[in-house]
Amino acid sequence: MKVMASEIEKGAKVEKDDVPVLVAYLVKNHGPLPDGPGKEIVLNICTQCHDLQRVRRQRSSAEGWAEILDTMLNEGAPLSAEDFPVVLRYLARNFRPEG
Ligand code: HEC
Repeated sequence: MKVMASEIEKGAKVEKDDVPVLVAYLVKNHGPLPDGPGKEIVLNICTQCHDLQRVRRQRSSAEGWAEILDTMLNEGAPLSAEDFPVVLRYLARNFRPEG
């Protein structure tokens, strides 16, 4: 999608009918993070090894996020024991499976 957006900036033609879909997609994937406790931690820590796209496009239950956070800890994420539950709650609330 990054490629697509930059292609559009360069003047690529986008069919009029595609625009709403495209905008919805961009907002969903590049939009700001929802507010709430944990947001700052996510912004500070979860951007150290990959961009936030990685986080935003993920949809998981609390159990799923706990597993992902464990994996991130194993990768070396500097997430303290104190911050872990805050981030977990934030992610589970804002990035849960749809429907
Ligand atoms: C020390 C580096 C590091 C930090 C910090 C980090 N990650 Fe990751 N993350 C990784 C690596 C490496 C992968 C790719 C793992 C793979 O593809 O197997 C990854 C992948 C992911 C994925 C995709 C998982 C999947 O199954 O596709 C998500 C979601 C994710 N990280 C969330 C987070 C969140 C949330 C944080 C902040 C708490 C975070 N990451 C911080 C290293 C890190």
